[in-house]
Amino acid sequence: MKIGIIGSGMIGETSARLFVKAGHEVAISNSRGPESLKDLVRELGPKARAMSVEDAAAFGEVVLVAVPLKAYDSLPRAQLSGKIVIDAMNYYPQRDGQLDFKGGASTEFVAQHLPGARVVKALNTMYFKPLGEEGKPGAPLEDRWVLFVAGDDAAAKQTVSGLIEQIGFTPVDTGTLATGGKRQQPGTALYNRLMRPSEAREALSTL
Ligand SMILES: NC(=O)c1ccc[n+]([C@@H]2O[C@H](COP(=O)([O-])OP(=O)(O)OC[C@H]3O[C@@H](n4cnc5c(N)ncnc54)[C@H](OP(=O)(O)O)[C@@H]3O)[C@@H](O)[C@H]2O)c1
Repeated sequence: MKIGIIGSGMIGETSARLFVKAGHEVAISNSRGPESLKDLVRELGPKARAMSVEDAAAFGEVVLVAVPLKAYDSLPRAQLSGKIVIDAMNYYPQRDGQLDFKGGASTEFVAQHLPGARVVKALNTMYFKPLGEEGKPGAPLEDRWVLFVAGDDAAAKQTVSGLIEQIGFTPVDTGTLATGGKRQQPGTALYNRLMRPSEAREALSTL
C-alpha cells in the first residue's frame, strides 16, 4: 500500500520505519522540506521517499497526519480529500494554543477541516517508544499491545486496523469519531497505557 506521512517527528518517523518494515511504500514529509529528510529515507531504503507535504498527501492511499494539532489549518485539504487519513494528533493547549472543539472530539474538528477525507483517529494513544519497539508481527492478537481506532467510515477503519495488525499491534475499535475520538484523547483511561486486548475491552466497557 502507498502511505503518505505528514510530520517526520517522533510519531511520523517511527511510523515510517514500521510501515516500511511491513512492506509498504512510504512518502514522508515535514515543514522543512524533502532535503531535510535525505538521511532518513536513505536509511529506510528503496521503499521510502521524501516529498513535500502536498505530494506526500497526494501519494498516499492512506495518509498519516502526525503534526502538532495547531498546524491543522495548513494541512493540504485538496490532496487529502477522498483519502483515508489517520489522525494521530493530540490536543495539548500549552503547545497548540486555545482551540474550540465546541464540545466535540478534537478529531471531529480535524475532520471538519478536511472535507471529503475519511478520517480515522489512530496511532495517537501510545508513546512513540513502545510504538517503535513493542510491535510483535506474527504474534497472537491477544498477546500484543493494543492500538485504538475510532472513525465513522467502517471501510477506512478496517484498512487502518489491518495496518495496525501488520505493524504488530492489535486494533481495538472505540466507536465513532465523536464517541471513540473522545475516548482516545489525553487524560482518558485508554490514553498512554499499554494494554492487552482483554484489558482494553474491559476498560472500554466502563466508559
Ligand atoms: N510523541 C509521541 O509519543 C506521540 C504519541 C502519540 C501522538 N502524538 C501526537 O502526534 C503528533 C506529532 O507528535 P510528535 O511527537 O511526532 O511531534 P514532533 O516530534 O514535534 O514532530 C512534529 C513534526 O510535524 C512537522 N510539522 C509541524 N508543523 C507542520 C506543518 N505545518 N506542515 C508539515 N509538517 C509540520 C514537524 O516538521 P519539522 O520536522 O520540519 O519541524 C515535525 O516533523 C502530535 O499531535 C502529538 O500530540 C505524539
